[in-house]
Amino acid sequence: MDDSTVGQGPSLELTPEHRMIRDAARDFAQAEIAPIAAHLDETGEFPLDTIRKMGKLGFMALEVPESEGGAGMDTLAYVLALEEICKVDAAHGTIMSVNNSLVCHALLKFGTPAQRSGFLRPIAAGDRIGAYSLTEPMSGSDAATMKTRAVRQADGSYVLTGRKSWVTSGPVADTIIVFAMTDPEAGHRGISAFIVDAHQPGLIRGKHEPKLGIRASATSEIMLDGYRCPAANRLGAEGEGFKIAMIALDAGRIGIAAQALGIAEAAFDAAVGYAREREAFGHKIGEFQGLQFQIADMKTDIEAARLLIMNAALAKTRARVTGERYTQQASMAKLFASETAMRCAHRAVQIHGGMGYSKELPVERYFRDAKITEIYEGTSEIQRMVIARAALGLR
Ligand code: CAA
Repeated sequence: MDDSTVGQGPSLELTPEHRMIRDAARDFAQAEIAPIAAHLDETGEFPLDTIRKMGKLGFMALEVPESEGGAGMDTLAYVLALEEICKVDAAHGTIMSVNNSLVCHALLKFGTPAQRSGFLRPIAAGDRIGAYSLTEPMSGSDAATMKTRAVRQADGSYVLTGRKSWVTSGPVADTIIVFAMTDPEAGHRGISAFIVDAHQPGLIRGKHEPKLGIRASATSEIMLDGYRCPAANRLGAEGEGFKIAMIALDAGRIGIAAQALGIAEAAFDAAVGYAREREAFGHKIGEFQGLQFQIADMKTDIEAARLLIMNAALAKTRARVTGERYTQQASMAKLFASETAMRCAHRAVQIHGGMGYSKELPVERYFRDAKITEIYEGTSEIQRMVIARAALGLR
């Protein structure tokens, strides 16, 4: 997609290119992911084969320009594709979202030409998997309080020591963007970002998190025990790490919003299908007004979430030209879409009654998967804080 066409005012019209990528993602998800989604949820196996195929199709780096090895699309194309993948399996969506928004976006925006060719290009091609590591056991929402240290050596390299947690794709990642303190006295301005080769000594993959949902997306701790990072692999300037982390999360939150929308739609479709078939008291349950009101609220929330996501996606695409922040738009989209996913999944289970509680149907998986969207990449409480601070002009 040509950058000269962005920034010319918002449009909710999908171009033929947008429809093509959405349909390609839908077809791929139906053909390749739908048959294995329940099994992967059960076993927690990482779906390496399908992720590699998604890489070959460009889904792992949708917004990276073609000149850098990506698909060269805009953010709207990205969210449309992600939504379709997540309608079928949110775990694939988590891997896709982190790779695209937290990793590729940060490398593209802050990487040197050498870093982009050495690290971004193989990730964009789907040959390597990227991860992003900010959180620590005692530093989650208050990300700036991290303890991991990066100490500069005489030769300019850094030695990293510390313990990171909740690293999406941590058990399988090849390249991890790790945030660490280079100057602990300076608070958030003492944080720097490093591109870490996960196959080098000094990086130990810790325990896998046994999760409630998105079970096929592997999550683990990462221990850094004297990991030596060349100066050339520092991402951005020393002390710029917190800003890089936040800018990556602005992009990431749009992705999680699209993931939540996909889950909400899957839950909605299941609820509507069941309400049309299931009978009680001599009627299809969809004929009861109590149920109709729930369907109406679900549908309205889904369409409102979609518009907030499109709004954030268009703001992010415009930012390529204007450089303006889209922090508030991203947080509003994530907040509303994730709470919509949770409400829709909750209602879908209730509408299914006992069958909603059974692993014979995917509805209980949607319910478990939806919850994480209210937690990771900033909890709903953090999103409200970000939205309010922007509205009040506090940041
Ligand atoms: N873009 C650019 N700069 C930003 C920014 C943004 N979105 N947000 C903050 N900043 C800048 C501020 O302007 C400020 O700059 P100065 O140094 O010039 O003052 C600096 O960063 C510090 O900002 P704050 O004072 O607002 O920082 P804070 O300590 O109050 O924290 C916060 C703000 C929004 C609460 C932030 O800590 C936050 O987002 N916390 C949640 C962390 C999070 O989402 N973690 C999830 C990790 S990833 C994950 O979930 C796992 C996975 O793999 C998917």
